[in-house]
Amino acid sequence: MDFMQDIIARAKSNRQRIVLPEGTEERTLKAADRLINDGIADIILIGKPEKINLLAEEWKLANISKATIVDPQNHAKKKIYADLLFQLRQKKGMTPEKAAILVEDPLFLGCLMIKAGDADGEIAGAQNTTGNVLRPALQIIKTAPGISCVSGAFIMFTKTPQYGKDGVLVFADCAVMPNPNAQELASIAIATADTARNLIGMEPKVAMLSFSTKGSASHEMVDKVTEATRLAKQMAPELCIDGELQADAAIVEKVAAQKAPGSEVAGKANVLVFPTLEVGNIAYKLVQRMGNAEAVGPILQGMAAPVNDLSRGCSVDDVYKMVAIACNQSITLKAAKQ
Ligand code: ACO
Repeated sequence: MDFMQDIIARAKSNRQRIVLPEGTEERTLKAADRLINDGIADIILIGKPEKINLLAEEWKLANISKATIVDPQNHAKKKIYADLLFQLRQKKGMTPEKAAILVEDPLFLGCLMIKAGDADGEIAGAQNTTGNVLRPALQIIKTAPGISCVSGAFIMFTKTPQYGKDGVLVFADCAVMPNPNAQELASIAIATADTARNLIGMEPKVAMLSFSTKGSASHEMVDKVTEATRLAKQMAPELCIDGELQADAAIVEKVAAQKAPGSEVAGKANVLVFPTLEVGNIAYKLVQRMGNAEAVGPILQGMAAPVNDLSRGCSVDDVYKMVAIACNQSITLKAAKQ
């Protein structure tokens, strides 16, 4: 897992401020303790300070005293954040009264802290559904400049070194867009290639997956993938991308030689882009469970600041890694702004 070690080292070298809205959740609090101890990030916990301190004592988490704790109902910037929420969302029907209530919701508060420049990224989802974590982020933080569509990638550390880069592949979209159109699918492909390059230093070879390889089947679902491939090539001419490819043609050299001879990607793909969320979500879970792969994510791509969702089945280690990943994303986004 050298990739993860690099991610952790990069986070340590340029400490970012990460807000954890589920501040009283056990795995979150235990990960926060380790993150502070290891100097990975400056941690902001949202929750009642008395409760957080009591839990930290019960679980013997000595480093929690070094976290910043924000009580969602009672803190100095509550009115400022409520005004900010009203300003940002008034055209969408937000009223000062609604904003005064929503600002106490830790998931909204975390995003407002980021928008106000008081935090660099957020990790949540150990207690909340993906939709509830994503909605305030999409409404408040919004997409990065030039990006129209947020999606979710997984780094898959598989036990099959013959595929991808020594068994490591990036899968997307596995978390956000239920049914992207061709334009959206093209931007998911480009964002996923960026994630592979920026986060794990992998030179992306992107396969646009379908149930057809190079015209072996004809259907409107195949047409969407070929059109997305064409658009992605237009949007990022330097990108090594090919489609439509079946999964075996994408990753198995022998099959690629037969089904897609001459392709720069087929047989060597390390980034797999799925045509819909159903396929991506099911595929990553099957590879994770049946193939015994480690799935790190979902890493949200395309957001103006990093907000990463956790599975409700996550471990302390998952929270720890997702914070380190958010720190790396923040460092990259800040560098791109300069
Ligand atoms: N990219 C950019 N912006 C988006 C996206 C997107 N992918 N999706 C929605 N938005 C924007 C909308 O334009 C809207 O902006 P506006 O209010 O300023 O106009 C805002 O986000 C909210 O949109 P809504 O339509 O209110 O939100 P919606 O109900 O569509 O929810 C959500 C968006 C939560 C992402 C939804 O598509 C969803 O639930 N996706 C599936 C999530 C999921 O369950 N994943 C599987 C589990 S994850 C796992 O297993 C790892």
